[in-house]
Amino acid sequence: MKYRTGSLSERANRRSFLRRGLVAASALGAGSKLLADPQGSSGKLTQGDAALLRFAAAAEILESDFWIQYNELGGVQDKEVPSGSGNPVYTAKLQNLDSDFDTYIHDNTDDEITHFTFLNAYLQSKGAQPVNLDQFRTLPGSTATGSSRMLRLTNLMQHTLDTSWWTRYRSSDNNPDLNPNFPFPQAVPDLGKGQFTAIPRTDADLTPDAHIQAIANTAAFHMPTIEQGGNSLYPSMAQRASSVEVLRILISIGPTETMHFQTWSDKAGNAVSPPLAPLTDPTNGLTFPNLNAAPFGGEEFTTNLIMPEPCPFLSPSLPKCSIIRPTETKGIAMGVVKFLTAMGLFIGQSKAFFDVMQDLAAAADNAERRMDGQD
Ligand SMILES: [Fe+2]
Ligand SMILES: [Fe+2]
Repeated sequence: MKYRTGSLSERANRRSFLRRGLVAASALGAGSKLLADPQGSSGKLTQGDAALLRFAAAAEILESDFWIQYNELGGVQDKEVPSGSGNPVYTAKLQNLDSDFDTYIHDNTDDEITHFTFLNAYLQSKGAQPVNLDQFRTLPGSTATGSSRMLRLTNLMQHTLDTSWWTRYRSSDNNPDLNPNFPFPQAVPDLGKGQFTAIPRTDADLTPDAHIQAIANTAAFHMPTIEQGGNSLYPSMAQRASSVEVLRILISIGPTETMHFQTWSDKAGNAVSPPLAPLTDPTNGLTFPNLNAAPFGGEEFTTNLIMPEPCPFLSPSLPKCSIIRPTETKGIAMGVVKFLTAMGLFIGQSKAFFDVMQDLAAAADNAERRMDGQD
């Protein structure tokens, strides 16, 4: 259904969205100084553009919440990302994957905070409703050494991960936009078969060695799994932006998600290659295979093949092209909510939280490109 200022049911949906959105946004009243347009233009956003940016802001708030959890335990501690005090055992296991892992966590966290802060400020500068999810910060997080123990929006401790992005980006024959039912093989099949923590839940998780390394490895796969989602979300939404400035925002933030994805997919590769792999967590059997050895290896699995393999794009009759995939725009926001829910990121959240997320996603998915910039 397209989102024009039309039918009664559309208006009813919008009212219910605004009601919930206003509740969710109420705590941002203090930011009203931001209502001054930083660029001096007084143009208003179309409802579709505002909805696209609001969904992006919500996604970025959620990203910030879990990246802050990673930073508290495994990142660089400084005033840019102030909560937490670091967990030396977990940090050392992450550094087995890359000696700069803590720096990358810190900078990724900083990026996400700036993404939602900017998006909300831009929405406000155009007189549009920003997003605030603070009322849903209700989940108890890790109590391990280093955690700030503040309440969270997201749950990093019960992940079920779809790691098929690994082979999706290595496939030269299949693009999910053209072959939506193609079963891309999983990189770490075990991560899709249970619930695994990506951070130490308590200090009891810091031993034995192979257990805390498996937790670090789970983080190393969770990070690119999330970021490849952002990598698809922005180009998918950008196709329905009306204003060139909103398009510019979406195509300027989106590639930073791609930079995150590329960085983390390289680190994930270190969790599934020697000397760390193969590794089995003795407490639960979670196994990270060596993807460079039989029965893996080849173009689909080899760990240093981190550049996207060219694949069919738009039509099988056109030449293959190295691209982000998928970028199908229809239903992208609801797809992202489903994807994050399925990975366990929201386990413990309230029905009201899911209602707000679904309203934001539905509004974004109903946005349509308006050449006249008018609703
Ligand atoms: Fe982001
Ligand atoms: Fe990101």
